[in-house]
This record gives sequence, structure tokens and C-alpha cells, in this order.
Amino acid sequence: MDYLPIFVNIKNQPCLIVGGGPVAARKADLFIKAGAIVTVVAPELKAEMKHHLAHGKIVWEIATFCADAMTHFPKPKYVISATDDEAVNQAVYRYCQNHDIPVNVADQTEFCDFILPAIVDRSPMTIAISTGGRSPVLARLMKARLETMIPSGFSRLADLVGRYRQKVKEAITDLDGRKAFWEELLEGAFIDKAVHGKFAEAEADLERKINQVAEQGQPLPEGEVYLIGAGPGDPDLMTFKALRLLQQADVILYDRLVAPEIIEMARREAERIYVGKKDKWHKVQQPDIGLMMVELAKQGKRVARLKGGDPYIFGRGAEEAEVLVSHGVSYQVVPGITAAAGCSMYAGFPLTHRDYSQSVSLVTGHQQAGAKGVDYGRLANSGDTMVFYMGVKNAPHIQAGLLEHGMPKETPVAVIEKGTTPEQKETYCTLETMAETIAQKNIKPPSLIIVGEVIKVRARLHPVLLASDGQSDSQVAV
Ligand SMILES: C[S@@+](CC[C@H](N)C(=O)[O-])C[C@H]1O[C@@H](n2cnc3c(N)ncnc32)[C@H](O)[C@@H]1O
Repeated sequence: MDYLPIFVNIKNQPCLIVGGGPVAARKADLFIKAGAIVTVVAPELKAEMKHHLAHGKIVWEIATFCADAMTHFPKPKYVISATDDEAVNQAVYRYCQNHDIPVNVADQTEFCDFILPAIVDRSPMTIAISTGGRSPVLARLMKARLETMIPSGFSRLADLVGRYRQKVKEAITDLDGRKAFWEELLEGAFIDKAVHGKFAEAEADLERKINQVAEQGQPLPEGEVYLIGAGPGDPDLMTFKALRLLQQADVILYDRLVAPEIIEMARREAERIYVGKKDKWHKVQQPDIGLMMVELAKQGKRVARLKGGDPYIFGRGAEEAEVLVSHGVSYQVVPGITAAAGCSMYAGFPLTHRDYSQSVSLVTGHQQAGAKGVDYGRLANSGDTMVFYMGVKNAPHIQAGLLEHGMPKETPVAVIEKGTTPEQKETYCTLETMAETIAQKNIKPPSLIIVGEVIKVRARLHPVLLASDGQSDSQVAV
């Protein structure tokens, strides 16, 4: 380790920034946030530093740094030199060395007693990232990743937990017991409530648990199920919430449509159970999946049930949620990008457009026995963009249904196979040629059939691409 990461208290301590430009202003900003009394020495200030001055955050000495003049100031605790004048930076460095003051000369690690890390600020929780001055850009990229993973609500969560620290200490006197209490609390539903602003509920949970532990001792951990929409294929289309819950799960239940890269994102120790269809005769039955989740949750496990696309769009997510409700198991549902949105976008056209389509219908192309049938008459005359899920086997029936009810045979159709994945394949045809094209090209599930004039927008958005692929059969994801 090149540097010792420590957090120092500089509240009301004098600190000196030499330089009035944007780099000096950014460093001044950190000192201001940490409560220091900041003096800036510079002959002139640029906009960012003027902003600090206008808000009374700094004291400005209008001068070029001069070591002799430093006798007029209280000895600073820390000094930053961020000027573009090498001689001034060197003078500041020498002055600090002579007076035992820690100094940082911007962008010159060899003249730094300390470095300022990139920061993810969820005060009072602060994460500092450093590459030891080797690559500020790499540190910033890492910061950006962490920023996306740690919701801003963590600030208030840390405050809330801090307020109860003493109370928990009094209620649970042994150290291991306290550790177990906090671990269980901070990995469960409490954290989601707090992070998403449901503070009253989170606080009530915390109070209840403290009283429970004080009266009955540490209870068994409570399990929970996360019904997570994993999106249509591309792992980048998962939401932050989906990723966060996936990474805190003990058991992962997944099916065929969930990309292996997404399952890889779970904790290494998490148990992974495939519950998809293996073949026509061999699959885990839907009721069994529900009961499996109930059983695992009752053992105190956090169960992530990963579903392709969105759990509540042709995903049977609500049926699984019903089983959980009927067994009193707590659960959360995380929406996902449904195949219709992902596939059309990756193929390069929208689902609605002011010139072509004002509405969208998501339709099942595969109906359960006994279910109410699709109303092709309504669809054919609706002007909707129609997206048929699970429709490839049933394509002749869909085609006949729409044509019989008067839909023009020239209506554009896009069939998108394995959308948003590296194997995405798009086929463009018309309603009249749809079933024949699907059969000829041997298109297999998972595929979406999209029917509607809005597909024409693709030509407007991607003229060059279409000139090269002839607008009929493309394997290129835009
Ligand atoms: C059981 S449904 C699940 C839908 C999912 N819940 C959603 O919101 O996208 C499965 C059907 O969704 C469609 N589908 C899902 N992922 C797809 C993809 N990557 N490319 C094309 N179609 C997809 C196919 O029609 C597939 O047969």
C-alpha cells in the first residue's frame, strides 16, 4: 500500500489553497465540505472559485504565494498548491517542508505528502478510491461504477443506523450477538425500505427487532423472495435494483431466458438452481417453483427468482407472488425491460411514433388451454403496434386472424430472434408473407413478432444500414 487511507477531522481548522483555477476550486470544495476554514491565495479567481467566494465559503487573499507573507496567517493544517506556475508550486512545497505542513501539489505525486482520493459521498458514509496517484481517470471510472451501485438513500440509512447504535448496544450486550443483529438487519428488507425513503417503516422495523431481541433473544433470520426482471438478454439492461438484490441473495432460481452472464453476477457462494424447461417432458412445474421458494424463504434464505424480461409481462410472476402471499412469505418485485422494448430498440425502431402508431398491444401468441382468446378483430382495427410474444409456432394462426379482420396484407412485420443478445437476428417481411418467412427461415423461440407501420421508422433512423442490408433480413443489431 503506497498511502495509508485515513479520514481526518478538519472541522474549523485553517487550510490553505494556492491557486484560483478550476482544479484548485475542486480541491477547495472538498475542504469546504469537510468543514475547514479555507483561505485561497491567488492573484485572480476563475468562475468555480468565485462561486465559493460569493457563497462565503472561502477567504480570498489577492496575491501570488510568497513564503514571507505566510507569517500573517494562522499555520495551516493542510496545504494544496494547484497553480500552473511551476515556480509557485515549488515555493509552496518548500515552505511546507520547512514548516512540517502536509502538502499536496496537484498532479505531481512526488510533491505530495497526501493525496485526495476520488470520493463517493453518501455522507456520513464516504468511500475513498485511490490509485496512489497513478491514474486519476481510473479512480474516477471506479467511482462512477460505485456511484451507480450505491443508492443515494444510503446517506440517510447511515444516519438512521447511527442513531440506534447505542440503543442496540444496551439491548444486546454481547459483541457477537450485536454483529449478528446488524448483519441480519442490513442484509434484509429493512435496507430497501430505508434506501427508498420509507424511513418511518424502516425505523418501526428496527424498533420492533430491538424489542424482540431484548425480550426473546436473537430470532432466526427471516427469508425473503425477490422476483427479479432480468431483461431480455443483454446483461447491461438489468436495473441497479435488480443487480443489488441479486448480489445479496443466498439462492438463485433461474430459467432458460436468463443470460448466463447475469447468473454469474450473483455472489460466488450463492446456490444456483435451474427451474426452466429442459425439454417437452421434463420441467419443474410452476406450482413446484412457488413451493420451492416458500420452503427456501422459510429456512431464512434470501431467494432471487430471476425471470426473463419483466416478471409481470407474460412471466407468471404474479402467480408466483400469489403463492408467496398465501404462505406469508415477504417478497419484492423488480421490474425488468420487457422483450418488446428491448428487441425493437436493438433492432432500431420505436414502438410508438406520432406519424405511425399511438398505442401498443402486447399479445400472447400462445394461449393456455381454456384461456379467453385473442380478439383479432379488435387488434386489426386498433392502429396499435402489435407485439406477439411466444408467437412463432402460432404464426399462421396470427396471420390469418389479422388478415381475416381486414388488416392490410402489406403491413410491415419484424421478427426478432434472441433480441438484445450477440445472436440477435432480425427478419423483415409483410403480414402476407409472415408465416411462410418464419417457416422458411426456421425461426425459433425466443422470438418476437412485431406488426405495424411503425417499423418503417427504422428506415428513417438508419438509412445507411438499410441501404446495405436491403431492409429484408438483417443480422446486425443497431
Ligand atoms: C414466457 S415469455 C416471457 C416474457 C418476458 N417476461 C418479458 O417481459 O419479456 C417468453 C417470450 O418472450 C419473448 N422473448 C423473451 N426474450 C426475448 C428475446 N431476447 N428475443 C426475442 N423474444 C424474446 C419470446 O416471444 C418468448 O417466447
